[in-house]
Amino acid sequence: MHNYISDLKKHIGKKVTLKGWVYNSRSSGKIKFLLLRDGTGLCQCIYFKGECEEKALEDFAKLTQETTVEVTGVVREEPRSPGGVELGAETLNILHITKDFPISPKDHGVDFLMNNRHLWIRSKKQNAILRIRAEIVSAIYDFFNGKGFTLSDAPIFTPNACEGTSTLFETQYFDEKAYLSQSGQLYMEAAAAALGKAYCFGPTFRAEKSKTRRHLIEFWMVEPEVAFANLKDNMELAEQFVEYIVGRVLKNKKEELKTLERDTSTLEKIKAPFPKLHYKEAVEILLKKDTGFKDGNDFGATDETIISSQFDKPVFVHHYPTAIKAFYMKEEEADPTYSLSCDLLATEGYGEIIGGGQREDRLEILEKKIKEHDLNLEHLKWYTDLRRYGAFQSSGFGLGLERTVSWICGLSHVRETIAFPRMYGRMYP
Ligand code: 4AD
Repeated sequence: MHNYISDLKKHIGKKVTLKGWVYNSRSSGKIKFLLLRDGTGLCQCIYFKGECEEKALEDFAKLTQETTVEVTGVVREEPRSPGGVELGAETLNILHITKDFPISPKDHGVDFLMNNRHLWIRSKKQNAILRIRAEIVSAIYDFFNGKGFTLSDAPIFTPNACEGTSTLFETQYFDEKAYLSQSGQLYMEAAAAALGKAYCFGPTFRAEKSKTRRHLIEFWMVEPEVAFANLKDNMELAEQFVEYIVGRVLKNKKEELKTLERDTSTLEKIKAPFPKLHYKEAVEILLKKDTGFKDGNDFGATDETIISSQFDKPVFVHHYPTAIKAFYMKEEEADPTYSLSCDLLATEGYGEIIGGGQREDRLEILEKKIKEHDLNLEHLKWYTDLRRYGAFQSSGFGLGLERTVSWICGLSHVRETIAFPRMYGRMYP
C-alpha cells in the first residue's frame, strides 16, 4: 500500500516511500530541506550529506515548485514539524519537472487566481477551506441521520419554480421546458408525508445576475422538512443543527482553523438557544439607525449586518411580511399580512445562512397564492395534492452550505468555499 503523509505517525522509526509535489525547497550548507505535499498533508524531508544518496543532493538543485517526486527515508518524531514528524530522506526520484508553476507565494489578483482555480486549490489556505467544507458536509449527514431523518434526494430537473420565476435556469427536457432546481423543498414536503422527517442535500441553481460576496449561481443546500412541526419547532431544530456543525468543526478541524487565522472565540459562543426577533422588532432596530430602510421591505446585506451585530450568536428573524415571501409560506392566521417564515442571520456580518418556515397547509389559500404569484397551477398540481390528500402541518428550512463555510472559515467571499465556483460571469475552469 502507498504511504500518505497523513499516516506517517504510525510509521515512526520505519523506512517509507512517499510520492508528492514540492511545496518548498531550500539548502543550508550540508543540509537540504524539501517540504513535500501529497494532498493529505505536508512533510519536511531532510537530506543530510553522508546520510542520503549523493545523486539526491545533485538532483535537489533541479527541484521547482510543484515538481512531482518520490522520496524514501526514515520517519522520525519531530514536534516542530507539520504533523509532528519528519523524514530522514535517503533518495530523491524526480517523476515530473514542473516549469513555471503559475501560482507563487507572491500576491496575485483575484481574477488570476480564479482563472487558475484548478491549481489554486493546492495551496494551504484553500486546502484548509475544502477540508472544513468536507467536515461540515459530513456533520450535516450525521446530524440528520442521528435524528431519525431519511435522506430523500430531490430532482435537479423540475417543471416548477419554487423560489420565484426571476432566477430560473431554463433548459430543454426533450419536448418540454424544464428548470434547474432552485430548492428541493416542495419535494421534501412530499417526502415528509411519506417518511415523517426527510431531508435532501444537493446542488441548487439560481440565475442571480448579481456579483456579491454571498451569491453563487450553483450552491449546495441542505433542506430538512418535518411533518407536524410548527415555526417554533423549526427554529429549534435549526439552532441545534447550527450549534452541532460549528461544534464539529471546532473539534475536528483545529489545524485548518489555525491556518485560516479564524478567531474561534466567536465560534465557541455558538450555542442554542439563539435570539429570535419578530420582523417588526428587527425593523425597529433598523429604523433607529436611520439607514433609509422602509418597513415592509426585505433586508439587504447592510440591514442584516446591523441586526446581527446586536448579538454574539446567530439571530432568527421570523414573521416576515407575506408579500415578500414565497407562495408556500403559511400566512399567520391572526394577521395574514405576516407569514410563518424565519431566516437565520449569522454573526459578524455574514448574513443569512438559513431560510425557511411553516408551509401553507390550507388547500384553498395555497391555490390562491399560486395564482397570485403567477405560477402554473397545472405544474404544481402534484404539490397541491399534498394538501388534498391528508393535509398536514409541516415546516422546514434550507441552509446554504457555501455561506455557512464562509462564515465558519471567516472568509470575505463565497467564491473560495467550493472547489469550482459558478458565479455570475464565470464558468471557468
Ligand atoms: O432562503 P432561501 O431562498 O430558501 C429556500 O430556498 C427554501 N425553499 C428552503 C427551505 O425552506 N427548504 O435559500 C436558503 C438558503 C439561504 O439562506 C442561503 O444560505 C442560501 O440558501 N442561498 C444561497 N447561497 C449562495 N448563493 C445563492 N445565490 C443563494 N441563494 C440562497
